[in-house]
Amino acid sequence: MTPFSDSVRCLAVVGAQWGDEGKGKLSDILAARASVVVRFQGGANAGHTVRVGDDEFILHLIPSGILTDGVRSLLGCGVVVDPWALQREAHGLTARGIAVTGRMGISRRAHLVLPHHREMDVAQEVGRGDNRIGTTSRGIGPAYRDKVAREGLRLGDLHDWGRTCRIVEAGARRARFAVEAVGVDPGDRAGLDAALTLERLGDLRQWLLGMATSTGDEIRSALAAGKRVLLEGAQGALLDVDHGTYPFVTSSTTTAGAAAAGSGIGPTLIDEVLGVVKAYVTRVGEGPFPTELSGREAEKLRRIGREFGATTGRPRRPGWFDAVAMRHAAAVNGLTGVAVTKLDVLDSLEEIKIASCYRMDGKEIDRFPDSAADLDRAEPVYETWPGWREPTTECRTFDELPARAQAYLRRIEEVASAPLRYVSVGPDRAHTVPI
Ligand code: GDP
Ligand code: IMO
Ligand code: MG
Repeated sequence: MTPFSDSVRCLAVVGAQWGDEGKGKLSDILAARASVVVRFQGGANAGHTVRVGDDEFILHLIPSGILTDGVRSLLGCGVVVDPWALQREAHGLTARGIAVTGRMGISRRAHLVLPHHREMDVAQEVGRGDNRIGTTSRGIGPAYRDKVAREGLRLGDLHDWGRTCRIVEAGARRARFAVEAVGVDPGDRAGLDAALTLERLGDLRQWLLGMATSTGDEIRSALAAGKRVLLEGAQGALLDVDHGTYPFVTSSTTTAGAAAAGSGIGPTLIDEVLGVVKAYVTRVGEGPFPTELSGREAEKLRRIGREFGATTGRPRRPGWFDAVAMRHAAAVNGLTGVAVTKLDVLDSLEEIKIASCYRMDGKEIDRFPDSAADLDRAEPVYETWPGWREPTTECRTFDELPARAQAYLRRIEEVASAPLRYVSVGPDRAHTVPI
């Protein structure tokens, strides 16, 4: 059964590594069968690439469904929305002939990322020195911090301008202290100027409120009418604030539990959870990464896989597929299926490795450590697979794939304990093998 077969109405797509697994490509393909596509966590830190013919779109906040006619795009309450990033993205899409107006809804409960959050994000990274996280500088952590501290500004608050002013002024003041506290001179940083923020927010207020909705109600109505809903995750399990490599994580729950909470529905409405993984692994930003490659091997994967961040342009750190991390990601997400992407990137390799377990303190372990410090000490124990050394990009069925590639994919399926649903063999929509 492929996702969105007749019995599947509501499907969550989640990253099962450190992000950039190809969620955008998969979501775009699945959107063809959906009426509604919902982002449920994260913000403009995401960069989801979708190739449509010769056109490449990089979506940061707007769900990938926007590229499919007739699909409604929603941002759930779990998303932190930077109004200016959203405006830039909407303008960029409109200029390329993609209608956005009238097709997007944002939860009234969604929190806004404000300029002072971005100032704080940058300053706090400076303050962390050698312990920096390598954030995307999009203000994500500080915006979630304000949300959890019950000091954030929600979209629905914009109805009450007096309340909006109080929240923005208090937030900018706290941000100024926070910037000073890490030894950065707040000087005349525009992002800390509440009056300026309010002036700029005032310009977008009506546009934003025009999109205000209850995403939960919309999803429930769509499902009740027999329509299909796709919940599009951002980041990946290993960047999850609880289940990832804390503190080298993002500030949201990136795993499937958030697909319900962050979109406003109950978990029992979700029929399938599709985990997306690369046929190898990449990570961008700091933090432990047991199977990381260095030198020429790393360069080769980075070059063939074009491994540069879709949001920040930073080079991604490549490494071998990690079965220990995969088992963890499958477990915490309750995956019901896996999609393996970028298989083609491995086409020319003579040998391909998978870390089947780690060695720590002289013992072999197959459980993903709970602390980043322990993970840092873990040495991967590899199994070696012979490369297939044939192009796979033109394969359209599983049987057309080289036998060695099939065996490698079956091994990933076994590790994930969930059936293989899709294999991606290139960036285009057509470069896809449904199973
Ligand atoms: P996301 O954040 O999970 O949506 O992934 P990104 O868009 O950040 O990164 C995935 C990159 O790989 C993008 O540049 C995609 O165009 C590209 N891509 C996706 N699937 C494949 C594939 O099967 N093969 C190749 N060569 N590239 C792919
Ligand atoms: P998509 O959705 C890869 C990483 C950052 C950093 C850490 C914290 O495209 O897969 P943040 O700005 O969120 O506070 O940064 O998380 N990160 C991502 N890495 N893909 C992403 O999104 C990411 N979003 C955040 O590099 O290490
Ligand atoms: Mg990405």
